[in-house]
Parts: sequence; structure tokens; C-alpha cells
Amino acid sequence: MNRQMVLVGFLQAQNCTNLPSSWRHPDSRSDSMSADYYQEIARILEAGKFHMAFFDDRLAMPDRYGNDHAHTVEYGIRCVKMDPLIVLTAMGLVTDRLGLGATCSTTYYEPFDVARRFATLDLMSGGRAGWNVVTSLNDGEALNMGRDSHPEHDSRYDKADEFMEVVLGHWDTWEDGALIMDKTSGRFADPTKVKRLDHKGAAFKSRGPFTVPRSDQGHPVIIQAGASGRGQRFAGRGVR
Ligand SMILES: Cc1cc2nc3c(=O)[nH]c(=O)nc-3n(C[C@H](O)[C@H](O)[C@H](O)COP(=O)(O)O)c2cc1C
Repeated sequence: MNRQMVLVGFLQAQNCTNLPSSWRHPDSRSDSMSADYYQEIARILEAGKFHMAFFDDRLAMPDRYGNDHAHTVEYGIRCVKMDPLIVLTAMGLVTDRLGLGATCSTTYYEPFDVARRFATLDLMSGGRAGWNVVTSLNDGEALNMGRDSHPEHDSRYDKADEFMEVVLGHWDTWEDGALIMDKTSGRFADPTKVKRLDHKGAAFKSRGPFTVPRSDQGHPVIIQAGASGRGQRFAGRGVR
């Protein structure tokens, strides 16, 4: 059996690569905040047979140096961080087969919101969306998202477990074949095939019904990169 390599392009929706000074290279494009910039990357990845364009994410500017953003902004040290889902939508519009993966935090969003955004990208891209599940990294993100400090490691994963139950639960509340769309009878969808989730847990409450029907691939691909024992147990729970 032939083995096939899977190629994923690691991208950041920001003003530089992991090398903060990369924006200064004479050949670097200066429009890294435009759709055209990311659409060119998307076309190159697809032509190069990459399976996925993948974005990391961070909900804060790096400002630990002196607890001040002046240095970060002045030298463009990853000070820009745009919403990866919106950037991916622009990339999806100019490609046909490229997978579209984005990082999104289980610590600072509501699961209904995340479920809806990724399900929408899946529909808009013909079933090409993927979600990299992270629990986020630092206090700066907490301070931007309504908290005083970043929660402790294992408790983030406890919450992430429940977050996944809600997201995966909502994604499954529309059965295959729920959409009827019969103009003559006026029946849009079969109410017996669309359920409420009615989730009430320790960290989250979410009723439903979910507002995005199933995509061709059922739901987005799930990606997880946690390396700790707790992170691996989280990832190992699987989708079903
Ligand atoms: C390759 C890789 C990429 C990651 N990208 C992000 C990211 O973009 N945003 C983020 O908040 N965490 C990111 N993480 C962090 C992990 O998802 C995880 O939250 C972190 O490693 C802490 O969990 P752990 O102690 O189980 O490893 C990344 C980790 C790895 C290994």
C-alpha cells in the first residue's frame, strides 16, 4: 500500500510569521491585512497539493515585555492578530479542495457560538472546515475576555470536555435528510429530525435547537494538539 503524506500549511493571521522580523524582508508583501494576501497563499497551497491551510490563534497582543505594548507595536512583533475564521472564509472562496482549519478557544467563548461559526464555514466551503480545539495560553487573553486571570490548566480541560459535549451535541441535532424544502407543500424541514439539545452542565447551559443544518461532511474536522497527560486524555475521548 502506498503511503501518502498529509501536508498542512501553518499560518498566522498577523503581520509576520513566527519570525517577528519577517515583515521587513524586501520581498515580503506589505498587505498582510488584505484578503488578497491570504487568497494568494490559499491558491499556492492548493496548487501545491496541501490538504489544509491552518491558522493558530491568540486573543491578546504579546505585551509581557515590560507589561507594555509599546515595544510590541513599534517593531511589529506579532501585534496584529485577526479573526482566523473570517480570513479562512476569504481563502475558501478562491479554492475548491483546500481544507480550512482554525484554532478557537474553549475557555473564552460560548459553545453555541463556536458550533455555529464552524458549522457555517463548513457549509460555505462545501465541507472543508476544521477546528483546532485549544484552551488558550495566558492572562492577556483572560484580561481581554472578561476575566482577571487565565484559569488553571486541568480546570480548563474539564471545561473543554463539557464544551465539546455541547458543540458536538448541537452539530448532531439536525439529522441527515432533515431538510425537505418542498415549495409546493411549504414544508422546509422535518421537525421530527431537528431536536433541542437541552444541555445543563457545570459550566454551560445551551438549549437549542441549533440554527445551522448539517453540512455534507456532517460536521467540521476536529484537531487537538495538547501534549500534557490531561490534554491527551481530552483528545482521546474522541468525537463519538
Ligand atoms: C502545534 C501546536 C499549536 C498550538 N497552537 C495554539 C494556538 O494557536 N493557540 C492556543 O491558545 N494554543 C495553542 N496550542 C496550545 C495547545 O493547544 C494546548 O492548549 C497547550 O499545549 C496546553 O495544553 P497541554 O498542556 O495539554 O499541552 C498549540 C499547541 C501545539 C503543540
